[in-house]
Amino acid sequence: MTAHPIFSAIHVAALEPYLARTGTIFHTFGDQDSGCISYGFTAGGRRWFVKGASTPDGVSSLRRAISVHKAVAHSAIVPLSHSFSTDEGLALVYPWMAGVVLYHPTRSRHGGRTTPGSPMTKFRQLPLPQVHAALDSLLSAHLAVEQAGLVAVDLYDGCMLYDFENHRMMLCDLDEYRPGPFTLETGRLPGSSRYMAPEESVRGSVIDIRTTVFTLGRALHLLLDAGDEEKQWRGTSGQLGVIKKATAAAPECRFHSVHSLVDAWHAAT
Ligand SMILES: Nc1ncnc2c1ncn2[C@@H]1O[C@H](COP(=O)(O)OP(=O)(O)OP(=O)(O)O)[C@@H](O)[C@H]1O
Ligand SMILES: [Mg+2]
Repeated sequence: MTAHPIFSAIHVAALEPYLARTGTIFHTFGDQDSGCISYGFTAGGRRWFVKGASTPDGVSSLRRAISVHKAVAHSAIVPLSHSFSTDEGLALVYPWMAGVVLYHPTRSRHGGRTTPGSPMTKFRQLPLPQVHAALDSLLSAHLAVEQAGLVAVDLYDGCMLYDFENHRMMLCDLDEYRPGPFTLETGRLPGSSRYMAPEESVRGSVIDIRTTVFTLGRALHLLLDAGDEEKQWRGTSGQLGVIKKATAAAPECRFHSVHSLVDAWHAAT
């Protein structure tokens, strides 16, 4: 940890002026769907990612993020370094990670997974061993999530920060993960429909680790296909069989734990 004042901050009035006063903001993420505003920030000779919330929804998701990071730490999950309150809400400080998220929708721009040169297109062209290493990071992080008694919510390619130089996959924005099982009180959980299990849009349904299994199955499928339409499978038929079971519509037909999904995946790989 660094001696920079941000790490002893408990409360600051307004986030952006505080950052500008105590270091350098080198990037602003001001157009995110979440309504949070985040900053790339240099301080104490290091780069940080500072995420600020000033709306009730934003604040509650950052509070959730704090509990997630208290419960789970893993080498493929960007760790939380510090948090403090602001007059308007809450701010979280993470180490800045090299790389890009495989998909980066904003309020004003969605799509682009198939654009030549986009991170997802590049990822889908990587040699298979590198794709498998990234998938292993994703799965291994979720063994830790399972162990911590959490379930994945809103996991999608926008959480997958991939470093194309060092070939490292890191997960960010796990703000919606929560202790499970739980009963869905609203009509739909937040998330990308391509990754979501059917029960995530049924009020009153039980969301448990089998929901996480489904989402991981979707991630395996989408990341190990050369195209966005899932017609250019790069894996084996055994791996496809594992994905089929993981993404069965009925939770009881899926693997009952991330652990059993991972075992089956490794046996097929
Ligand atoms: N630790 C990090 N280091 C570098 N960049 C990061 C880091 N964490 C997140 N990012 C980048 O910042 C962007 C926004 O972060 P994040 O997804 O946490 O914000 P958000 O407000 O929850 O956005 P969304 O509405 O898309 O969920 C990410 O898409 C990613 O490009
Ligand atoms: Mg988010």
